[in-house]
Amino acid sequence: MCGIVGYVGDKKSIEVLVGGLRRLEYRGYDSAGIAVIDDETGALGVSKKSGKLVKLTDELAAHPLGDGSAGIGHTRWATHGGPTDVNAHPHLGDDGKLALIHNGIIENFSELKNELLAEGYGFASETDTEVAAALLGREYRATGDLRTAFQNVVSRLDGAFTLLALHSEEPGLVVGARRNSPLVIGIGEGENFLGSDVAAFVQYTRTAMAVGQDQIVAITPDSVTVTDFAGAPVEVETFEVEWDSAAADKGGWSSFMAKEVAEQPDAVANTLRGRIVDDAVVVPELAAFGDEALAGIRRIVIIACGTAAYAGMTAQYAIEKWARVPVTVELSHEFRYRDPVITDDTLVISISQSGETMDTLMAVKYAREAGARVISICNTQGATIPRESDAVVYTHAGPEVAVASTKAFVAQITALYLFGLHLARVRGSLSVEEQAEQVRELVAIPAKIATVLESSATVAQLAHWMADTRAVLFLGRHVGFPIAMEGALKLKELAYIHAEGFAAGELKHGPIALIEPGQPVFVVVPSPRGSATLHPKVVSNIQEIRARGARVIAIAEEGDAAVLPFADEVVRIPLAAPLFEPLLAVVPLQIFAMELSIAKGLDVDQPRNLAKSVTVE
Ligand code: F6R
Repeated sequence: MCGIVGYVGDKKSIEVLVGGLRRLEYRGYDSAGIAVIDDETGALGVSKKSGKLVKLTDELAAHPLGDGSAGIGHTRWATHGGPTDVNAHPHLGDDGKLALIHNGIIENFSELKNELLAEGYGFASETDTEVAAALLGREYRATGDLRTAFQNVVSRLDGAFTLLALHSEEPGLVVGARRNSPLVIGIGEGENFLGSDVAAFVQYTRTAMAVGQDQIVAITPDSVTVTDFAGAPVEVETFEVEWDSAAADKGGWSSFMAKEVAEQPDAVANTLRGRIVDDAVVVPELAAFGDEALAGIRRIVIIACGTAAYAGMTAQYAIEKWARVPVTVELSHEFRYRDPVITDDTLVISISQSGETMDTLMAVKYAREAGARVISICNTQGATIPRESDAVVYTHAGPEVAVASTKAFVAQITALYLFGLHLARVRGSLSVEEQAEQVRELVAIPAKIATVLESSATVAQLAHWMADTRAVLFLGRHVGFPIAMEGALKLKELAYIHAEGFAAGELKHGPIALIEPGQPVFVVVPSPRGSATLHPKVVSNIQEIRARGARVIAIAEEGDAAVLPFADEVVRIPLAAPLFEPLLAVVPLQIFAMELSIAKGLDVDQPRNLAKSVTVE
């Protein structure tokens, strides 16, 4: 939520800032703004506009700002105050000489605002951020030093924040701070960068540092200083960003989502790369965690939100089957507040593409404080959740820019399957040959996803025929159940259509009342070979809804003829062992949601009201 970029160096800031915001826009698109210090006049210039970034670029074209070598930029997902020009960031302090941007929520802002109101300060916006800007102005006048003033301000703030600020009397300096919200530094030559994530600056440098919890950073063209909130210096390690800027570009695709759907074979293959040796799983990050520690695990709790939680629900079936350890899956925001039983033989696995989801971050901290050890599955280097965990298994899906998660989902399931097979080996619950069999299935998945992608045009046509549909239901059993829920989530968020995913067995306990003539229902059909017991049950479920007029679209294995008499449409997926079918069955559902969104003329990459990285609770 909210994208932040900062720059000092010999380039013209506006181009760097707008380019950074373009790459961060997926984090929020309610408004955008920049502040730069004009090299010629030394004055601070600010431009900000509600709406998507294009509104800001239009504004900059109509009313250019004097450019300079230091600046900050912000793209907003509104929390305090609606998405208006006035509430857009940056906010000003010290009579317009300083500018400040913010990601997060300052929980004690009312108290601070009252303090400032009593001193005669006035506020133009409804934001918590303007309060921090005013406070920083007051401190600057008292200290005459931006670093000290900033340190004094951040120590008084409660809640979650990444803040960046600059002052026209100290050109060539940008200061930043973070608590429970992301901030990374890009190290250049004669220039340095700050960003909510590396996408903000990867075009210029791939050498990065992650600012830690409760730390302050000051960048000039030639220096980077990191301290704690009390001003004591801290050591920060650098890391190299694994992907280049081309990976975060659309590269000729009509949308980021279309590109990311197509990248799914690579997302799985790259997540497996280097982690399979001679048909056995070898994950060094898990080896470092310790086989003994893993062997002693009596219970696994997977915590995640949204699509990541559905990846966890899918993997629950595989991990329990292979490793014979009880696994539960909980939404991070529910887990933390219900006083869960956590013992020191509980292993918590968090799943997060961004590694910044506040609900999951807080649940990770909670679990560790309660004595659990935490392994994170994450797609973003330098993110907060991996830093707060005992171990991390990175998914190598590459940057996911479209707000709706696709390639990260299949990569998350892949990483969780690697974990499950590693655990099964450590616990001796699968024979070497059984492990090898599963590994071979996993390795075959990228090519099979590529085959599913070949039927994109058929699914697209279906979506275009159904552009006026008002509600869609999704059914599945076993691993098909989380896929049904994921299909429904994709449709809700992309096409704004009411959609529900149900366990097919649950139908007769209520949801079947929703079936009326013409109601579209997607059914994820298990393999007749691999799921000899479940397949006929799902076919019976299809008959039950068909008898009540449902229009059935079956996602079924090649050669499954049993569904043909009862389905209006059949989308085929290649043969795979049952636990691996979700990695294939989800793809047509993603494409369907994407194409329906396109058919309705909606923005596939940036659906309304959403943001990619949810850094508020
Ligand atoms: C849906 C979607 C979200 C995320 C959820 C968790 O398409 O993308 O449901 O899966 O917000 O995000 P991460 O994985 O970044 O923690």
